[in-house]
Amino acid sequence: MIVTIDGPAGAGKSTVARRLAQRLGFGYLDTGAMYRAVALAGLRTGVAWSSDADVARLAATADVRWQGDRILLDGADVSEQVRSKEITAAVGRAADHPLVRQHLVALQRRAAEGVSLVTEGRDQGSLVFPDAACKIFLDAAAEERARRRVADFRERGEQVDFAAVLADINRRDREDRSRPVGRLVKPADAVTVSTDGLTIDEVVDHLQRIAQSRLSAEQS
Ligand code: DC
Repeated sequence: MIVTIDGPAGAGKSTVARRLAQRLGFGYLDTGAMYRAVALAGLRTGVAWSSDADVARLAATADVRWQGDRILLDGADVSEQVRSKEITAAVGRAADHPLVRQHLVALQRRAAEGVSLVTEGRDQGSLVFPDAACKIFLDAAAEERARRRVADFRERGEQVDFAAVLADINRRDREDRSRPVGRLVKPADAVTVSTDGLTIDEVVDHLQRIAQSRLSAEQS
C-alpha cells in the first residue's frame, strides 16, 4: 500500500511520515531530499540551470539512491549535507526543472514497486501516485508553522524575528502553489489533517488510524 503525505513547508511532513512508516512497518521516501541531492550535484558540477542540455546530462548522470533512510549521491552519504542552508537556497532550481522532475518521479515510482511505502512531498498524491490507497494532506496555519520554526531556531541558539519568519513562510506558500511544475496541490481524494495544536505523536496516531482503516478496506 502507498500512503502519500503532501502539504506546505513546515507542516511537519518529514517527522510525521518517518514515524508513521516505522509504526506501519513500511518504507519511507523523503522526496524533498532527492531534489536536494540533485541540487547538490548541480552545485558540484557547476550546471547551467538555464541550459536544458546541461540539466538533462545532470539528471541522467547524478546517481541518487537510498540506503535505508540515508540518501546517497554518487555512492556517498549526503543526508546531512543536503540540509545545509546553501542547498536550501539552491534547491528551487532543481525542483523547478521539468527534466529533473521527470527523472525523480520515475525514480520515486520505481522505489515503490512491490513494496509498501509512506512517501512525502508536494506532488505525491496528485501526480506521482494518483492511485495511492491513502492520501493525506498535512496542513498547519502559517502562524503555527512560524511559531514552530522560531522555537527550532531558539533551540539551536539562534534568535530570529517572528514577523520575518512568518513573511518567509507566506512567501514560500505562494511560490509552492504557483510553481510552473511540481506545484503543491491538494488531491481531491486526500484527507486533510491540520496539525495545529497537536503534538507529533497525536498527529501520527491520527494518521495511523486513517492508514490502518484503508489497509483493512484493501484487504477485505
Ligand atoms: O521538503 P523539502 O524542504 O526537503 O523540499 C526541498 C525542495 O524540493 C523544496 O523546494 C520543495 C521541493 N519539492 C518538490 O518540488 N517536490 C517534492 N515532491 C518534494 C520537494
